[in-house]
Amino acid sequence: MEVYNNKQEIIAAIAALKQKNISLGLVPTMGALHKGHLQLVKRALVENEKVVVSIFVNPTQFDNSDDLEKYPRTLNTDVALLKTLSEKDILVYAPTVNDIYEGNTVSESFDFDGLEYEMEGKFRHGHFDGVGTIVKRLFGIIAPDRAYFGEKDYQQLAIIKNMVEKHNIPVKIVGCDIYRESSGLAMSSRNTRLKPVYKEAAPFIYRTLKSARAHFGTKSATLVTQWVTMEFAKHNLLELEYFIIADAETLKPVHRKSSKKKYRAFIAVYADDIRLIDNIALN
Ligand code: PAJ
Repeated sequence: MEVYNNKQEIIAAIAALKQKNISLGLVPTMGALHKGHLQLVKRALVENEKVVVSIFVNPTQFDNSDDLEKYPRTLNTDVALLKTLSEKDILVYAPTVNDIYEGNTVSESFDFDGLEYEMEGKFRHGHFDGVGTIVKRLFGIIAPDRAYFGEKDYQQLAIIKNMVEKHNIPVKIVGCDIYRESSGLAMSSRNTRLKPVYKEAAPFIYRTLKSARAHFGTKSATLVTQWVTMEFAKHNLLELEYFIIADAETLKPVHRKSSKKKYRAFIAVYADDIRLIDNIALN
């Protein structure tokens, strides 16, 4: 398995593949790979002849320099994990900041039609411009036929779809199901940092989402939101940051339900100082 640190080298390797008409998938990641990431890579391997996994902790999407510094960097273990999936069909692109940003670590400004102002956008300033910037650059370098993103970061997935459409980028965006631990907790690199009591408490998040889905069958979004807020108020370890029922397409909070629309519930919770996010389709 080749690991490329340099743009020119991977561009040359990809040009050689394209000459042979080989189909190419891309799975963008920030490394510290877990089973959730591997699920995306597995799907990409089924649907494409070759798969590029990018591993890059993107500075422009962090609004907190401490967070950026603390982000785990585990390239050797990541490469070893990818090798268990395929030695010959995966290329790893693990660039330096300079290789991507060429001395100018600033984000491009995007208009995502308002998707960027909801939920995560309210709590993480500039985050989605940073995500748009890096993903657009990766698409430029790799030129994949398909690119894979998890529904775990549903808002990110929506924003990428919006960007690709608006900028006419010729890539198919594939959304993948949320991979969960057996407890129901959505898999995340942050889970390993949870102290045991919080790890035990955290599956409450998904259990509550499932109950919210059941209540949404008969109750209004407002009532379901009140119920969830109460459930977390009673919980002495988990602190609710937001719970929102939104239109699955526009991500705008719903006030009056329509049977023609798809809805989704989104949640962000603090377990100690660790922020966990999750979401669920409601209909
Ligand atoms: P990262 O957090 O490393 O996630 C990489 C991809 O894995 C994202 O598409 C994310 O949604 C997906 N993923 C993470 N946990 C998952 C789970 N439990 N189930 C399914 N998919 C999961 O998201 C990013 O990196 C960055 O913002 C990136 C897109 C790479 C741009 O820098």
